[in-house]
Amino acid sequence: MLAASPLPRFEAHLLGQAVLGVSRAWLIAHDSDPVTAAQQAQFEALQARRLAGEPMAYVLGTREFYGRDFCVGPAVLIPRPETEFLVECGLQAVQGLERPRILELGTGSGAVAITLALERPDAAVLATDCSADALAVARRNASALGASLGFLQGNWYDVELGSARFDLIVSNPPYIRAHDPHLHQGDLRFEPGLALTDGADGLQALRAVVQGAGAHLRAQGALCVEHGWDQAAAVRAMMATAGFTGVASQPDLAGIERITHGRWAA
Ligand SMILES: C[S@@+](CC[C@H](N)C(=O)[O-])C[C@H]1O[C@@H](n2cnc3c(N)ncnc32)[C@H](O)[C@@H]1O
Repeated sequence: MLAASPLPRFEAHLLGQAVLGVSRAWLIAHDSDPVTAAQQAQFEALQARRLAGEPMAYVLGTREFYGRDFCVGPAVLIPRPETEFLVECGLQAVQGLERPRILELGTGSGAVAITLALERPDAAVLATDCSADALAVARRNASALGASLGFLQGNWYDVELGSARFDLIVSNPPYIRAHDPHLHQGDLRFEPGLALTDGADGLQALRAVVQGAGAHLRAQGALCVEHGWDQAAAVRAMMATAGFTGVASQPDLAGIERITHGRWAA
């Protein structure tokens, strides 16, 4: 039996499951079974990390996204449930198109691009990030999940994209303002700064993604971006000015406009 933990019961169970490699039901049913000293020590090491505030996803090394488990670590943003709406937006945008060409900018763990590649196995998916460490995690996830897609390292569109245009560009770029106090609170303290903030007004990376998209989209190709809770109007204006039509934002389950999309009119 693992020694009593100061963690909330649910979290202690998750760590216990990870250490013993068992289900929650098994853990509860066998809570008086002996554990080895090594298992207890491993549990305590994970518990200490969690008690120090490290996000559970990093402590466990995994996070579920769109029904699949993705490896995560300090090099990548922990995929958020609301980002599943970005995947939905992208899937809807290429519905009915055969063998669509899809580009994700700022892939992090690869959760979005890999999910798109698995949901649309006929698509040619390319994912980029400026972080080599993030791309290593994304490649590992693609291989573990059996997804077939390409990865490139570079600054937004400044990578070898080739001359063929895309049917869809998706991105969840860093959009937190440089001096937002949330960057120093909770889970965000442990996530890579590069994934969270553009180091400016929160719209700089979104501008780069939106303004560069037209040069890489086919006529009527779609751009879907995720942004902050208070950025939808600014992103809609940005997309309309850049030459997108049908620009609209979608609310998440909490009713917050988190995704904005449009079609390239050229
Ligand atoms: C908010 S995270 C999104 C990660 C993942 N797509 C997701 O939704 O969970 C933003 C990602 O953009 C990458 N990034 C930041 N600046 C970049 C740049 N200039 N060019 C390319 N990628 C960049 C970060 O490394 C990070 O992985």
